[in-house]
Amino acid sequence: MVCSSSRGPDVKDDERSTTAPYYIETAGEVALFEQCHHRKLAVMLKGPTGCGKTRFVEYMAWRLKRTLVTISCHDDLSTADLVGRFLIGTDGTAWHDGPLTRAVREGAICYLDEVVEARQDTVVVLHPLSDHRRMLPIDKTGETVIAAPGFQLVVSYNPGYQRMLKDMKPSTRQRFVAFDFDFPPPEREAAIVAHEGGVDASVAHALVTLGNRLRQLRDRGLAEVPSTRLLIAAARLIGSGIAVQDACYAAIVSPLSDEPVLIGAMRDLVAASFI
Ligand SMILES: Nc1ncnc2c1ncn2[C@@H]1O[C@H](COP(=O)(O)OP(=O)(O)O)[C@@H](O)[C@H]1O
Ligand SMILES: [Mg+2]
Repeated sequence: MVCSSSRGPDVKDDERSTTAPYYIETAGEVALFEQCHHRKLAVMLKGPTGCGKTRFVEYMAWRLKRTLVTISCHDDLSTADLVGRFLIGTDGTAWHDGPLTRAVREGAICYLDEVVEARQDTVVVLHPLSDHRRMLPIDKTGETVIAAPGFQLVVSYNPGYQRMLKDMKPSTRQRFVAFDFDFPPPEREAAIVAHEGGVDASVAHALVTLGNRLRQLRDRGLAEVPSTRLLIAAARLIGSGIAVQDACYAAIVSPLSDEPVLIGAMRDLVAASFI
């Protein structure tokens, strides 16, 4: 019988939308992903937070005309949260598929965001799905579900994050084709910031220049560097009338550090980037 975990899965099902999600390609990743999809290969997206991994999967699901099931991983996530569980209802106890099982049956793209956050014993359930077997054995019911055509497993992983503490087991990582993501080159990042942030090209350019200068502070101890997402947040504030310095402080500088010396250095770079 059953059981519920304290947090349960954080799941989002995207029905195929008619308009393409906005995505600017950087290095041939679209064709590579398409081949992986057609050849039934599981995919791992590696890269820092906020650099476009989720948007890329949304775009590819749209392009390949597949439903996208997104599962945000965390350390309380259990196998039952992914696969399913027996639940007591008015007519007695009945089995309920979890989001992974649903994606396997329906032939959806199943995206496990931040997969290293999940415990190793949870992740092993992915193994028979990520090799040629393409099947999901459900221990609790005795059923083995064979993946419908179109099913694809995609995981994301931030290699810089809590390195050493958390890493993927070699036996897991070797089941995936890896895509290396990073912040887009400046002109493309500026186009993205202008589009998503609703600012003109000159403001977008200045924000990207600032972002790249701030990224160099990594060598001076800035643990988290600004992502494309943070630059977009600053752009949105500027677009809605907040003064540039205030917007950059609130959306970029302050979220990145509590350290007075680093904050001072970042403020100076903001001042130098918008004159
Ligand atoms: N190549 C790209 N094309 C279009 N938008 C992008 C791209 N890269 C980043 N973005 C923008 O940056 C935001 C953050 O990206 P996201 O995909 O959520 O990052 P991640 O999943 O890597 O943490 C997106 O919502 C999108 O607005
Ligand atoms: Mg993401």
